[in-house]
Amino acid sequence: MTKVITYGTFDLLHYGHTNLLKRAKDLGDYLIVGVTAEAYDMARGKINVKQSLSERIENVRETGLADEIIVEEYEGQKIDDIRRYGADIFAIGSDWKGKFDYLSDYCKVVYLDRTKGISSTELRSEERKLSVGLIGDASWLDKYRMQARFVNGMEIEGIATPDTTMLTPELSELPVITSDISDLLQKVDAVVIASDPSLHEKQIRQALEAGKHVLCESPFALTPEAGDSLVAYAQERGLVLQDAIKTAYSTAFHRLVLLVKGGKIGKVVSVDATCTSLRYSKTDDSITGANWGGMGEWGPIALLPIFQILGTDYTSSQIITRGEKGFVHEGEFTKIDFVYPSAVASMKVATGVKSEGELVISGTDAYVYVPAPWWKTDYFEIRYENPADNKRYFYQLDGEGFRFELITFAQAIANGASNSYISRDISRSLCKIMGEYYLGTNILQIR
Ligand code: CTP
Repeated sequence: MTKVITYGTFDLLHYGHTNLLKRAKDLGDYLIVGVTAEAYDMARGKINVKQSLSERIENVRETGLADEIIVEEYEGQKIDDIRRYGADIFAIGSDWKGKFDYLSDYCKVVYLDRTKGISSTELRSEERKLSVGLIGDASWLDKYRMQARFVNGMEIEGIATPDTTMLTPELSELPVITSDISDLLQKVDAVVIASDPSLHEKQIRQALEAGKHVLCESPFALTPEAGDSLVAYAQERGLVLQDAIKTAYSTAFHRLVLLVKGGKIGKVVSVDATCTSLRYSKTDDSITGANWGGMGEWGPIALLPIFQILGTDYTSSQIITRGEKGFVHEGEFTKIDFVYPSAVASMKVATGVKSEGELVISGTDAYVYVPAPWWKTDYFEIRYENPADNKRYFYQLDGEGFRFELITFAQAIANGASNSYISRDISRSLCKIMGEYYLGTNILQIR
């Protein structure tokens, strides 16, 4: 039996793909098709893929041409697959001519003529543009503008910000600059909100009422009930409302959570996350945009690993804060402790105190160490009693997580279904804790 193997993304399956698969199948008796995983496509710079891995696998399955479908996850996998599956022929479109000659040490390499006049790229570009507006005054708003350039079809149309004179030069060149959110809402299909957390609820509602999709920095609101009501309203109107925490969309962080939940370090006993900066010190004039103290700036990011790993059913929590709530000044600092039935967690955030910005997850077999700044890391370690057993993990991080966050948002709008990396219960708990801090209902204030 002659086995043929081929690979591709197979996004928005078209007749070019089916032709290729037919001809590949005709080269032998058994066809194995490798479909690329999202992270692998991202790592090789193909970031605008519209359909999820499972949809693309389904596309290939529906052709009825593949005898076996596998997932391509890493560079160098082709050699492993050819050996493992005993492939006799590697077939690929002629756009790759020469690129896979090195595989001829392992099997026959055949380049098949590409079908002219069709490609996934063309199909993607025919789609309607998604015009997006930015709302708020976060110092990192410009990162959304920069990363949106990598998202097919997305265009940042303008910004609504309280003080239009405070914009970076790049943001001030956007077509629409206004301090009135309703002005911006008239000109866009969707908005990204990165403003003071206490303004989110009102701004989200205003955008949803105007029929716009919303990507908002967590939390949606300062009580879980208010968050629920916004989510229900968005659903009613068929709009996407997605939590934005860039770290949730970083490949390394996502893998870390999966590994830990899969039992890699045994039972988790403690999660400790720290995020601090002094970059808003009064002497630094280069910082544009507002800031809201440690909790506004970092709270949801630092809470994310705790809730994703230990869940949201903690038995008690204690917020201890130093300095005036929601403001940046010397000594401003917040620590939150959580007790779970068989674990504990803590997070520390500050804009007026400096500490090591690391994440440590302690387990009964090993611990995870993520070096500072853990919230935008591409690297982590699993450390065992015997250092020789330690494992290092590296995943390319493009655009600090902002890029993948925007891609997920655009996909959710296109597919009419949310695929947020932040689950509803976590989104609710973020509203609860942030609300307790902002509304002062459950905090211990120190001087
Ligand atoms: N292919 C083909 N003819 C086309 C398009 C693709 O023969 N018109 C082949 C490719 O050469 C490859 C396989 O189909 O062997 C899967 O290609 P893929 O990269 O998924 O499709 P493209 O349409 O080329 O995607 P993109 O535009 O994103 O590069």
